[in-house]
Amino acid sequence: MRLIIEPDYQMASKWTAWYIASQINSHKADTPFILGLPTGSSPLGTYKELIKLNRDGKVSFKNVVTFNMDEYIGIPNNHPQSYYTFMWDNFFSHIDIKPKNANLLNGSAKDLTAECLRYEEKIKSLGGIDLFLGGIGPDGHLAFNEPGSSLQSRTRVKSLTYDTILANSRFFDNDPDKVPKTALTVGIGTVLDSKKVLIIVNGHNKARALQNAIEEGINHMWTISALQMHPKGIIVCDEAATYEIKVGTYKYFKDIEKENINPESLL
Ligand code: GLP
Repeated sequence: MRLIIEPDYQMASKWTAWYIASQINSHKADTPFILGLPTGSSPLGTYKELIKLNRDGKVSFKNVVTFNMDEYIGIPNNHPQSYYTFMWDNFFSHIDIKPKNANLLNGSAKDLTAECLRYEEKIKSLGGIDLFLGGIGPDGHLAFNEPGSSLQSRTRVKSLTYDTILANSRFFDNDPDKVPKTALTVGIGTVLDSKKVLIIVNGHNKARALQNAIEEGINHMWTISALQMHPKGIIVCDEAATYEIKVGTYKYFKDIEKENINPESLL
């Protein structure tokens, strides 16, 4: 696994965006580039930078198909806190992606199991995901794969833990009762099947999760740790997230990535 340590959130976002743009640009044009995407505050800086790169003509999304990681169950697409609304407000409306190429799980589907199967099949029919971008919760959950999720899981219905409901209540008038209690989410197996995976970890409140992801063993209680099994896994973090890792670990990754930490070397 690679660990790219950037000085702050802005630089971590810039690195991530430039990396994604470089991957899209180096992709063969006859098949679409398949990009997995998250919601949350972690990717917001990356989306802003990608929008800028798109406007500046440095990357185009015309040949990109996206699949989002997760969606709440029980709130309609047009709900202000649905991940559908989040993605269109913060990213898709501002780039040149074809609307039909932006895939999200439908949390209002009549048959949720069939919806999850359809999603997995669609990803498979396009040849799999080229790059999955993700963020994590403070307990190390990836998408909505809460602690204890199978590390081989596929897209399915998940119940949210109280920790996640509490963390996400900030978007629901700080009222945990208003947060949906279940969601559709890709599985850890779905993410690991991607050709490349890039996870953004920023902020002091993610420091324990980063430590478990990098220094401890693979463990279903920290589902992000499954990234250790991926041949092309990258974590991009800021300094604030490194507080719990050993000085030696920090120095090791700083040293081996010293030629690569400038985002502008990527495009
Ligand atoms: C939610 C999402 C995750 C996301 C996490 C962290 O639980 N399902 O995909 O990574 O929140 O969010 P944030 O980036 O806002 O800290």
